[in-house]
Amino acid sequence: MWNDKIIPTMYGDLPTLTAPGIWDLFTLAKTSFTIRSLTNDSDELDVGHRKLVHAWGAEARFRFVSSKSARGYTGIYESGSDCVIGRLSMATKPTKTNSVPALALKFFISGHKSENLQIMNSTSGQKSHNFFEMPFSNIIPPPDSFAKRLIQNIFRKAAVAFGAKDPDPTHLTVEHLAKILVDGTSVVTPKSPYRLIFKPTMAAGALMKDATVESDFRTNLARYPVGQVMYDVYALDEGESADDLPASKIVGKLIPTTKIVASSYGDEKLNFQHNMEK
Ligand code: HEM
Repeated sequence: MWNDKIIPTMYGDLPTLTAPGIWDLFTLAKTSFTIRSLTNDSDELDVGHRKLVHAWGAEARFRFVSSKSARGYTGIYESGSDCVIGRLSMATKPTKTNSVPALALKFFISGHKSENLQIMNSTSGQKSHNFFEMPFSNIIPPPDSFAKRLIQNIFRKAAVAFGAKDPDPTHLTVEHLAKILVDGTSVVTPKSPYRLIFKPTMAAGALMKDATVESDFRTNLARYPVGQVMYDVYALDEGESADDLPASKIVGKLIPTTKIVASSYGDEKLNFQHNMEK
């Protein structure tokens, strides 16, 4: 995927960032469209399916290095992975005073479909344009505006139609990563965390600390040094607080092994399945 799809379709000139239009919102409102975020387990979007949110991003290859203890969690938490592709995106076009960064990861598994993970800080985002200012998680706070509540209600309908055990659209699950090893072996007795927190390292936080809306996030991300740890990954059990993150809760580190590049394949074809337990 990296050599054959992403690298050959790297943009010469970056396309202009856009926000979803009114017609896009009508399309998002259709459960038959939105449910595909949960049901499409392919690495590519359906033909004709356009990313209406998170439309623009940039990709890199990553290594997920599991920490020795991994807190007893199994699967990818235990084995780590040398073969991950991530997409760093903005949920919508940044404004002068707001940006909503997010990250999707794809863990490639031998002889098996890929396993995916979506994380962000919140749908409200942040005042700054530093992609690495805030931690990301699979569980995000409830929306803070009427428009966002409307979209979350649409997403909830998709989750209900999907048959999610918990259709809360602010809660994706991470159990799937505990159930398989990168060589394709199923784990007999999986042990999974409930919540992951990706905390940007100091070095990552420093890279874009002065970024403004005038400087395109994709151009800034392209400066990220290969091999420099981007996130410390903390894992929490149900009931454990995200306000208390001792080093003992670190399950691994996420490290880019290539430069971060923006490509039309990443924006137009690359699909990351959202995960909810049924
Ligand atoms: C039922 C709940 C949800 C639904 C229906 C949903 C729907 C969508 C849709 C339609 C997209 C655009 C890409 C596409 O068209 O396939 C998207 C992208 C994305 N979503 Fe969600 N979302 C949900 C919950 C969440 C949550 C809770 C998070 C984070 C914790 C999240 C993180 C992301 C990220 C990171 C992307 C960008 C993926 C990429 O880079 O291609 N989503 N989502």
